[in-house]
Amino acid sequence: MTSPRRPAARRRTAVLRREAVLATVPVAVAALLGAAGPTAAGTPGAAGAGDPYFPLSGNGGYHVRHYDLTLRYDTASRHLDGRAVLTARATQRLSRFDLDLKGLKVTGVTVDRAAAGFTRNGQELVVTPRHALREGQEFRVAVTYNGTPKPVTDPDGSADGWIRTDDGAFVAGEPQGAMTWFPANGHPSDTSSYDFTITVPKGRTAVANGVLAGQHTAHGRTTFRWHQAEPMAAYLATATVGTFRVERYTTPDGVQVVNAVDAREARAAAPVLRQLPSVLAWESKLFGPYPFRAAGSIVDHAPDVGYALETQSRPVYDSAPDLSTLVHENAHQWFGDSVALTAWRDIWLNEGFATYAEWLYSEQHGGRSAQKTFDALYDRPASDNLWAFPPGDPGSGRNIFGTPVYDRGAMTLHELRRTVGDRAFFRILRAWATEHRGRHGTSAQFVRLAERESGKDLEGLFHTWLYAHGKPDRA
Ligand code: ARG
Ligand code: ZN
Repeated sequence: MTSPRRPAARRRTAVLRREAVLATVPVAVAALLGAAGPTAAGTPGAAGAGDPYFPLSGNGGYHVRHYDLTLRYDTASRHLDGRAVLTARATQRLSRFDLDLKGLKVTGVTVDRAAAGFTRNGQELVVTPRHALREGQEFRVAVTYNGTPKPVTDPDGSADGWIRTDDGAFVAGEPQGAMTWFPANGHPSDTSSYDFTITVPKGRTAVANGVLAGQHTAHGRTTFRWHQAEPMAAYLATATVGTFRVERYTTPDGVQVVNAVDAREARAAAPVLRQLPSVLAWESKLFGPYPFRAAGSIVDHAPDVGYALETQSRPVYDSAPDLSTLVHENAHQWFGDSVALTAWRDIWLNEGFATYAEWLYSEQHGGRSAQKTFDALYDRPASDNLWAFPPGDPGSGRNIFGTPVYDRGAMTLHELRRTVGDRAFFRILRAWATEHRGRHGTSAQFVRLAERESGKDLEGLFHTWLYAHGKPDRA
């Protein structure tokens, strides 16, 4: 269905003076000076990425290129042992920096193999490397940690992160749950490649993102290795553990599919999962080539979760999905995953698009037309929740999975389609996915792209449908 399946840098005068000196000396000398002494301390990285909806999500001062996560989960005791090695690049001179990590006990942190200082402050793990990091410097930070992971409660009351189930864990981190199971730069503006090595009791399966790189069983435990090559936001990472039936095949396009299904959901899931190759083929025809080398599904039995998530390359479902939900989560692979958000305010770029994909799927497979779906929604009175806030400006993290984001977001795309015509509209969808593939996109960039592709001034349309309060008048 269409609703949600469900202190910053404080510069000391010494630092300022130091920069004044550096500005006057030749570069080589500056580099030498920079490597030495307390006066080269740099500035602390910000505690958040600057997103007003989730001020502490993400961090300033560095970009993570790669996460290498080694986890061991004991499903009986619920204990997680973790080691995270992040390869990162400093985007400023850094005296110290934060990672997002909530709960769990940190037993050691190194930066480039040297022990680093660390403190905990709420969801911030504050790391002070022995030597300040130069702007542009690549560095490796390793964090060893353990404990019993607990999900976070979001402003809208839902839970995300590491959510225990009766046979393992349902792991879905949107918007802020990555920090419940690994130290992260936990904002979608930072995307990275990932390796996962996950050890669970024999008989359980650990499913993460990307391709299965290996699996072996010894001493009553099985270790699964997964590799996610294409950049991924931390909230899209998963390490879902359960008793799963696993199915593997490769599509004619060469995409490696892994479906992992809880036996209790298998009967209901089977006819839907059978459609996955044709759904991906249909979406590829509409949106451009599938953006990842891996695909699939994780169908868990997690009745308390209440939503599915488009975990990259392999959505996770809390129960057997219906076909609409399968279409929705896989449409996110283009819209939200491959083309990532820079700010949570733009969430309609994910949810409006994935919802509109459902409408299009229905229209092109003998179901209700998108126009009919639009009309039925438009009939709702001005007092309806659908018009509670504009989808392009939900106002706070509490609203990001609200009806207006999904349904009025999709209505916005439908109005765009009616205004520019089918040819230009489908060109726009494809151009958006293709030009921003593996990168980021903002609402403003989408508006510009739509104007470019259609040759029309669309300022009024987007103002009305994305940003104006209340039920829009019919054009
Ligand atoms: N992006 C998901 C979907 O629409 C919804 C995630 C909801 N997450 C949450 N914490 N409520 O498919
Ligand atoms: Zn969605």
